[in-house]
Amino acid sequence: MIKKIELNLKELGDLAKIIPGPEPRLRVSPTLGRIIPVCEPKLDGNESTYVARCLETNWISSTGNNIEQFEKKFARCCGTRYGISCTSGTTALHLALVTLGIGKGDEVIIPTFTMIATANAVTYTGATPVLVDAEPDTWNIDTEQIEEKITERTRAVIVVHTYGHPADMDKILSIAKKYHLYVVEDAAEAHGAEYKGKKIGSIGNIACFSFYANKIITTGEGGMLTTNDKKIAEVAKELRSHAFSKERHFWHQYIGYNYRMTNLQAAIGLAQVERFDEFVQLRIEHARLYNSMLKGIKGITLPPETKDVKNVYWMYSILVEDELGISRDELRGRLAERGVETRTFFIPMHLQPIYFRRYPQRFPIAEELCRKGMYLPSASSLTEKEINYVVKSIISVI
Ligand SMILES: Cc1ncc(COP(=O)(O)O)c(C=O)c1O
Repeated sequence: MIKKIELNLKELGDLAKIIPGPEPRLRVSPTLGRIIPVCEPKLDGNESTYVARCLETNWISSTGNNIEQFEKKFARCCGTRYGISCTSGTTALHLALVTLGIGKGDEVIIPTFTMIATANAVTYTGATPVLVDAEPDTWNIDTEQIEEKITERTRAVIVVHTYGHPADMDKILSIAKKYHLYVVEDAAEAHGAEYKGKKIGSIGNIACFSFYANKIITTGEGGMLTTNDKKIAEVAKELRSHAFSKERHFWHQYIGYNYRMTNLQAAIGLAQVERFDEFVQLRIEHARLYNSMLKGIKGITLPPETKDVKNVYWMYSILVEDELGISRDELRGRLAERGVETRTFFIPMHLQPIYFRRYPQRFPIAEELCRKGMYLPSASSLTEKEINYVVKSIISVI
């Protein structure tokens, strides 16, 4: 049997206090008569019509028209020639790394401040994730610290566009060029974001999107690789489907995977991608509203704003500074009592039970983000009244 990796918080020493407390108990808002979830999908377009069509015509597996159409339309939204759908953002990352030939003995640079899938995808290949701290201003990988982590084994950098805010791609591309590294964009959270007028998903060698139900475009579960490189697209497509070869069906020249999206999922994706611009714009509008209502509050740091990028605010994220007078966990608890669901920021990779003993270094910025960060309700379906309620609830409890 597989062994669970235990990490007693005492082993973390003074770092134990930055690990979020238990999830607060969410109650129905006495004023609204319901809860405001941190996120939920918006499925009021052509989703049910397209799904019904799959059922009526028997096209429910990974063969069917919706897949190709969804891939084409999503790739167009990302400014790339190719889109290769798959089962999740995690499998997109794994497929990307395997396609690039990354495996045992290789090193891949990633931010420590990310979701677990970024590190795990590297681990699945047998390569070693090499961690870099976050930048205080953007919460993305600190580009000034990448070069010192490069060794002769480094093969790639995975850059995460955290919470929808694009990373500094010019700097990353110039480092990658100097050391002959691949650049993989983890764009799971950044549908529709832009960096200096370029679409996120089109800048590195390959990019990976997630379509989990809380993402700006969803298929329930699902993912997509985007690239402008024909060869990468061809190999990824082959690996996605057991690497069945074109000349003889049951003939396999790579170790492939079954990472195929179904026509049912793609039906939802197709209906969603028809509203790509609308959904992206909704996230941006909601962030504007939150910003305008929260900006006067001392002790709350608003999400990053930097020049030349289009942040899509996948999740509206704030930092609870010490001067607010209550801790992040206390604030979450009081909001939960009022029916407002929130989520803490990522716990960095070097503090995860599965990785902790491999990374004795400290990463102070990521640790501070972990201690102070949380996101507020952010669904595309959120109303102005709900945003008002969330902000009023914050003001009433601080
Ligand atoms: C940065 C990042 N990478 C990868 C993933 C994994 O995506 P999925 O949940 O679709 O596997 C996520 C999921 O939220 C994510 O936030």
